Amino acid sequence: MKKVISVVGARPNFMKVAPLHAAFRRYPEIRHMIVHTGQHYDANMSRVFFEDLGLPEPDVYLGIGSGSHAVQTAKVMIEFEQVLLRETPDLVVVVGDVNSTVACSLVAVKLGIRVAHVEAGLRSFDRRMPEEINRLVTDSIADFLFVSEASGMENLRRENVPDSKVFFVGNVMIDSLVAFRGQARTSRIKATLGVADGDYAMVTLHRPSNVDSAENLSKLIRLLEDLSRFVRIVFPIHPRTKKMLADCGLLNRIENSPHVIVCEPLGYLDFLCLLETAKLVLTDSGGIQEETTYLGVPCLTMRENTERPVTVTEGTNQLMGFDYEGVAVEAAKIIRGEHKKGRIPELWDGKASDRIAEIIAHHCCPK
Ligand code: UD1
Repeated sequence: MKKVISVVGARPNFMKVAPLHAAFRRYPEIRHMIVHTGQHYDANMSRVFFEDLGLPEPDVYLGIGSGSHAVQTAKVMIEFEQVLLRETPDLVVVVGDVNSTVACSLVAVKLGIRVAHVEAGLRSFDRRMPEEINRLVTDSIADFLFVSEASGMENLRRENVPDSKVFFVGNVMIDSLVAFRGQARTSRIKATLGVADGDYAMVTLHRPSNVDSAENLSKLIRLLEDLSRFVRIVFPIHPRTKKMLADCGLLNRIENSPHVIVCEPLGYLDFLCLLETAKLVLTDSGGIQEETTYLGVPCLTMRENTERPVTVTEGTNQLMGFDYEGVAVEAAKIIRGEHKKGRIPELWDGKASDRIAEIIAHHCCPK
């Protein structure tokens, strides 16, 4: 029996590991364990995703919590090392680009345990982003790199990663979307919030570059107020953004804005339900750029760059930088129905996890 440990830490990890867990179940020769670092710990940032996605309780919960990058990364490393010494797995699977991803990869390779990185090769080419550092470090030490879009293959080739380590498999996040789309449509969230298909915009913002300065935050709030004159806004607030808004004295203002529905972070099914029939999406998230591309929903991204360029070249995504007036202009066009139509990128077909599990079973940890 081979033992594979997959690591989850933060919200965007759960929907990537859930389809992998389902795919591993088809291989009785593999024991698949889930370790949750606890980087995200609020019920609505973590627990609800286990429930929605049918993930079993993690085999191990490290309970790391928040902290500076160094503190969070170091604490994960200290605790995860104990897990690996105890469990001696054949392979560690890490996903995405959060601090838990890089921390667990470092611990595993130093103990001589092989690492597979799912969502490898993505690059924003912006080293001010903590996630870019996490991606670069993880890819440079991982043994197996599973890639979601063509740009990732080019990036890894340019970085001289041997072809034998790299597998173009598609997008595991889309696997979850495909698997849960039907169930998401039965969510009651639209009735609860009082919105109907196509009459609202979804907004999610949490990147430090957007929310960690009072100046940017107040521009964003003004933008949301302007936009809400044309379309109602559903704004599930990330804890980091909520804290910053409260610190800047802006939370009450946005909560009391008449056409803005401010709510707590939503579970996977409720969020997907809202995303599918949104008029438009305004975000700075990584994964939402991909989900909107798959769903064909127009997406305006408040970032200067993206590590997921296929969402722009083939999908419905537009990079807006910090051009607040530009967002208002583009949003108006979308509302008039003049928006970019996209197509679904190669191999985003709901089967990426099956491909990964097969490669892992036959190639990464053969019997
Ligand atoms: C992390 C990831 C980011 C990802 C995002 C999704 C890193 C470097 N960043 O950013 O790539 O897009 O998750 O959400 O790993 N907090 C809570 N409750 C929680 C979690 C966080 O209140 O359950 C608050 C804490 O005040 C914490 C802050 O949010 O200090 C930031 O959390 P952290 O995990 O450090 O980074 P995120 O901004 O969530």
